[in-house]
Amino acid sequence: MNQLSTNIGSLTLANPIVPASGTIGYGLELSEWMDLNELGAILTKSITLLPKKGNPQPRLFEIELGLMNSIGLENQGWPQFVSEIYPFISSLKTLKWVSIAGSAVSEYVELLSKLQDFQLDAVEINVSCPNVKKGGVPFCFHIPSLKELLKAVKKVNPVTKIIKISLESPPITDICHMIEDEGFSAVCIGNTVRGLVIDLEKQKPYFSNQIAGMSGPAIKPIALRAVWEVYQSGIKIPIIGCGGIRSVKDVLEFILAGATCVEVGSANLIDPTTMSTIIRDLMKYCEQNQLTLQKLIGLAHRKE
Ligand SMILES: Cc1cc2nc3c(=O)[nH]c(=O)nc-3n(C[C@H](O)[C@H](O)[C@H](O)COP(=O)(O)O)c2cc1C
Repeated sequence: MNQLSTNIGSLTLANPIVPASGTIGYGLELSEWMDLNELGAILTKSITLLPKKGNPQPRLFEIELGLMNSIGLENQGWPQFVSEIYPFISSLKTLKWVSIAGSAVSEYVELLSKLQDFQLDAVEINVSCPNVKKGGVPFCFHIPSLKELLKAVKKVNPVTKIIKISLESPPITDICHMIEDEGFSAVCIGNTVRGLVIDLEKQKPYFSNQIAGMSGPAIKPIALRAVWEVYQSGIKIPIIGCGGIRSVKDVLEFILAGATCVEVGSANLIDPTTMSTIIRDLMKYCEQNQLTLQKLIGLAHRKE
């Protein structure tokens, strides 16, 4: 137990800093910039059962306070997990978390079941993906689909499971309580916010899919509000905060609002040393103020 340690279900993280899925690949490139063992956990890009080509270019657009992305979950599927990703993450000393995504309930179930043969500490289940059986509406935007998915995956693989929802999942507190009631270990709040960019020269949307995912500082107040509301609603499972975090100050705001740990996303693409700087600054903050991180969780909700 150290000043920065925190718990997700039965897991103890040495500190609350985890990379957000998809923003560091599976960590190989980032390892040139920081010792990945410093992280509370490593978290991979979402993997799908079959390789996914992703969306056509362009896929990224920088906005004033963040990024718009339309990656479309490009990844090389299960075979790459076995041949490259697992061998790499299993060489690390920190906790190993893998993110999974799918376009049908059966795909999530199959992935989770295959993952049973691998030594992982947690699986983050990305439920912002379009459900092909329900006309492509993301699972987290359609409560019956989400419920069906939760009921199916909870029975598969005893690993710690985190459900990652969209910041726009309506109504967010009800959804989080549903996740808790189904017995999941934690909820991650959340994924990108839908946005649009218009290409003025072409006089049409910039991305081929039109709508893209907004991330970075622009969404921080939305993510922080969502964490605040969910914590205030009396949820007992840990909340993982994610959205626009780029400094120790941001991390402290999320922890005070009720997050047990946080995920850092787009900031890694701007500066790959962001997470190691945050961990160092967080340690300094706790030492200087002689407090443990655990004492800060949800503290902003006190009445006096
Ligand atoms: C380039 C890029 C790729 C992403 N890929 C994934 C992914 O594979 N799975 C996932 O759950 N979220 C993915 N996300 C969303 C992030 O994990 C995170 O939830 C979101 O960017 C908000 O955090 P941020 O504001 O710190 O970036 C991606 C985001 C970006 C910018």
